[in-house]
Amino acid sequence: MTTTNDYSPGLEGVISNATTISYLDLDKEEIVIRGYDLIELAQKLSYLETAYLVMHGKEPTQQEAAALRKTLSDQATLPPEVYAMLKSLPKQTHPMDALRTGISMLAGYEDPAILNDHHPEPNFAKGLKIMAKAPVIACNAYRANQGQPSIPADPKLGFTENILWMINGKRPDKESVDMLDMVLTCYIEHELANSTFTARIIASSLCDIYGAITGAVASLKGPLHGGANEAAAQMLVDILQKGGAAKAEQYITDIRAAHGRIMGFGHRVYMRKYDPRAFLLKDYLPRLLHKKPEGEEMYAIYRKVEEVMFRETKLYPNADYPIGFILYLLDVPIPLFTPLFLCARIPGLIAHVEEQHKENRLFRPRVIYLGPRELHPEKAGAGR
Ligand code: ACO
Repeated sequence: MTTTNDYSPGLEGVISNATTISYLDLDKEEIVIRGYDLIELAQKLSYLETAYLVMHGKEPTQQEAAALRKTLSDQATLPPEVYAMLKSLPKQTHPMDALRTGISMLAGYEDPAILNDHHPEPNFAKGLKIMAKAPVIACNAYRANQGQPSIPADPKLGFTENILWMINGKRPDKESVDMLDMVLTCYIEHELANSTFTARIIASSLCDIYGAITGAVASLKGPLHGGANEAAAQMLVDILQKGGAAKAEQYITDIRAAHGRIMGFGHRVYMRKYDPRAFLLKDYLPRLLHKKPEGEEMYAIYRKVEEVMFRETKLYPNADYPIGFILYLLDVPIPLFTPLFLCARIPGLIAHVEEQHKENRLFRPRVIYLGPRELHPEKAGAGR
């Protein structure tokens, strides 16, 4: 029998999986990825090298890294019907919704025997296709929204460079590519985030990896999760438009007085600690401010909001707070912030789906029933 003692709202503190992929070690303030500290990985390895580590549990050799680059480059194409689908969506469709539809659609292009084969090799092969194609869908969904022609991935460019290229058709500078690469690495894997848990739940019914990642996109869109990077950047822009840093404290006070949340702050696991990713990335902000005329003023807003939030709530920024500002400074359109988070997280999702399928048991929790009992249907005339 289930009892109230078994109940943890939001599953706080509940252990639902054993994993070898990653772990948030609060005592050491470390995000452990396959035994490595994510913050060190972000400073020493490229995003694709870290992706290999996340998926395979070991650092790649040069040949393995090159093979991964080639597979992703070869697979960075979309069926014409997917481009047509993006163009057919209503203009107000958020790129995150278009990405969800696009990844779901790709399942239909798999041989059904491979689609439903959940062994590691086919799962990785399908996962890499999703990883290669997701940025093409996301960037071109945004372009379709804007009524702009599609830009396919350029096989001469690397994975991260291609993302910036497909957004606006301009060759990105090295500083922007390196910064985005570090952001993608910071997002790559984070234990049992809501979207990762969603993917594992879906995979546990022995659904295919396309379904599991499609579900993860829906989860990540929510503003309490990945949607916070978009919301945090939008808040900085709003404060700028309402008078700049001098108005930041009042802006935060007003939201709090209305019992609203300040996006990019707080975290279920790190609630009273600094998210290590946010701690790393905040130091990169000053060197990027030159990229936008309003950069310095927005940085003043950024610091003021952090100061007020800590003073009033003792909440620290999570990764989405600096990342929202960094992506803004890199001239990434705000509606693409959460889709890029999802693209970055795909290696983690692949690893979790693969692990779930390997050691599967269906997720099926119970409830505490609070509804009525022992009611009986009234005979209402037209019944059986
Ligand atoms: N702004 C204002 N108050 C907050 C915030 C915030 N950002 N975060 C938590 N609180 C307050 C809540 O109002 C609540 O206060 P109360 O007890 O007086 O009602 C208390 O802190 C606990 O909040 P819960 O929602 O119960 O805590 P939970 O662990 O579920 O929240 C969450 C975690 C959802 C991330 C929360 O901190 C939040 O809403 N943050 C803003 C959204 C955000 O930035 N999400 C990104 C998460 S990180 C990521 O996905 C990369």
